[in-house]
Amino acid sequence: MKALVLAGGLGSRLRPFSHSMPKQLIPIANKPVLVHVLEDLRAMRVTEVGLVVGDRGQEISAALGDGSALGVRITYIQQDEPRGLAHCIGIARDFLGDEDFVMYLGDNMLTEGVQDIAEEFRTRRPTAQIVVHKVPDPRAFGVAEVDGNGRVVRLVEKPQEPRSDLAVIGVYFFTPAIHEAVAAIGPSARGELEITDAIQWLVSRGDDVQARIYSGFWKDTGRVEDVLDCNRELLDHLAPSVLGEVDGASELDGPVVIEEGARVVRSRIVGPVIIGAGTVIKDSYVGPHTAIGRDCVLSAAGLGYSIMLDGAAVERVGGLHGSVIGRDATVTSGALASRIRLVVGDHSSVEVAA
Ligand code: TTP
Repeated sequence: MKALVLAGGLGSRLRPFSHSMPKQLIPIANKPVLVHVLEDLRAMRVTEVGLVVGDRGQEISAALGDGSALGVRITYIQQDEPRGLAHCIGIARDFLGDEDFVMYLGDNMLTEGVQDIAEEFRTRRPTAQIVVHKVPDPRAFGVAEVDGNGRVVRLVEKPQEPRSDLAVIGVYFFTPAIHEAVAAIGPSARGELEITDAIQWLVSRGDDVQARIYSGFWKDTGRVEDVLDCNRELLDHLAPSVLGEVDGASELDGPVVIEEGARVVRSRIVGPVIIGAGTVIKDSYVGPHTAIGRDCVLSAAGLGYSIMLDGAAVERVGGLHGSVIGRDATVTSGALASRIRLVVGDHSSVEVAA
């Protein structure tokens, strides 16, 4: 079985970060979402990966290379514009050949993996097998109606009155029959070739399309709140390790990872927290569910439930919560306490105390 990972798209919901980096490289617990995805594929014993990229493909290939460091072999497939998930299958036709494949959206995190569902697909080989997740309000999703034997009887995109609570999530297993379906459908009202239309085409033809429920933690990391929530979930399973330096005046509480070359001076860290290589934390407080990247600086600062990307700095500012601070960004307090100076890029969001 091969894999097709989708890492093109616009990422408009993750602005401003997606202005400067592809959203699939946003770090969750200090590791890009795409790396989590490739590790999950490895766990499914899938190593031949076609990676669909858009405008920001170069940054993705600079980060992942040929995939050998992660034990996979990556073939990059360029998409000219985001023309839909089914369009991605069309442009990957040569790479996929006549093999079965798993399609994995490069911004989806299924923290418990789907090895069991992959094994079942390999053994039973229905025409297609989708992964669904029970959600409280399915109206924003593709919704699967499934019979008592797990067979899909209908797929409906964003129904006003959903007839099941099973949302279709970002992992799909296909036999080569999907290529016929992709060739048969036309663009939707929003102008994209929709994967739900292609799968529904198979269902309407009477093919065996199965749905399997994944009940672990799942997130589409499309928005900042989802990225923070996913970060929280991964940090909740953090195995502590201190390779950097912690001075005698500092206190570590709960599971904390301090990578090599990081330094903690006169500070209190309450885990789960991960601190990347080369980062310096002094006279500061770091609260639970915080991931700090490499070569950051935290000085006389306080931060919790947040993510700092590589090279960011926070100085003389306390009380930060639920924050995501971009690469090489700085947050400081000025000399004049009554003034706030901001240089905020497009689509940023800043919340100051009233
Ligand atoms: P989406 O999150 O549905 O789309 P998007 O990336 O354009 O995001 P937004 O809605 O915030 O603008 O895409 C799911 C995944 O599939 C994501 O990793 C991007 C990828 N993708 C492609 O590679 N090509 C495409 O044509 C589309 C639509 C998505």
